[in-house]
Amino acid sequence: MASSRNVNLGVLVSGSGSNLQSIIDSIEKGTLHADIRIVISNNPDAYALERARRHKIKSLVIDHLTYPSREDFERALIESLRSHEVELVVMAGFMRVLTPLFLRTFPMKIMNIHPAILPSFQGIHAQERAFDYGVKFSGCTVHFADDGIDTGPIIIQSVVPVCHDDTADTLRERILREEHRIYPQAIQYYAEGRIEISGRKVNIRHGLRPEERALHNPPLESF
Ligand code: GAR
Repeated sequence: MASSRNVNLGVLVSGSGSNLQSIIDSIEKGTLHADIRIVISNNPDAYALERARRHKIKSLVIDHLTYPSREDFERALIESLRSHEVELVVMAGFMRVLTPLFLRTFPMKIMNIHPAILPSFQGIHAQERAFDYGVKFSGCTVHFADDGIDTGPIIIQSVVPVCHDDTADTLRERILREEHRIYPQAIQYYAEGRIEISGRKVNIRHGLRPEERALHNPPLESF
């Protein structure tokens, strides 16, 4: 592993927080060199808040419903992230769209995870829509946030097959298991200072070369 420093994270959540958990676990194992300075939920009932409490990580609720505008909500987010000296903002199941105000404050320092192979199935209910579409592969993507919905430069993707006996739920679980692997990896690339961005392209310095092998689903039998 390349040398790295601990990067200060602010993790934004709205729900269960299983991706937050994978980040916490990777930090505790020592494979991810980061400190979670603050977990912020826009949803007061998010289970992610309980996960933070269990690991003695500071958390707070900034409920968008209590602010008159998106910008006012984001100003509160920004103030809190700044006061906790956050360098990298990690959206982990955070279900709010960011405005240019927030994006300008943390340029190319906001990561998001999306449960599809972008640019397919942007937006909500991505796993169900991919399943209903009948795709043979789906997966997940970690990318930098920009001013579109799930459109920013892609850092890492993982592909999973859709099996003939899958349901939307079993596919969601298979994708989620991969989310829990690629998000800590993407953040660790950042901590190691290995991410180079050129336009839409992200290069991981000294990144391993992927196997040049096609995947087929169903697998080929005689060709
Ligand atoms: C994850 O599947 C994440 O990819 C998705 O929400 C889930 C949150 O789970 N995010 C989006 O769909 C954003 N467009 P978690 O709260 O257990 O991490």
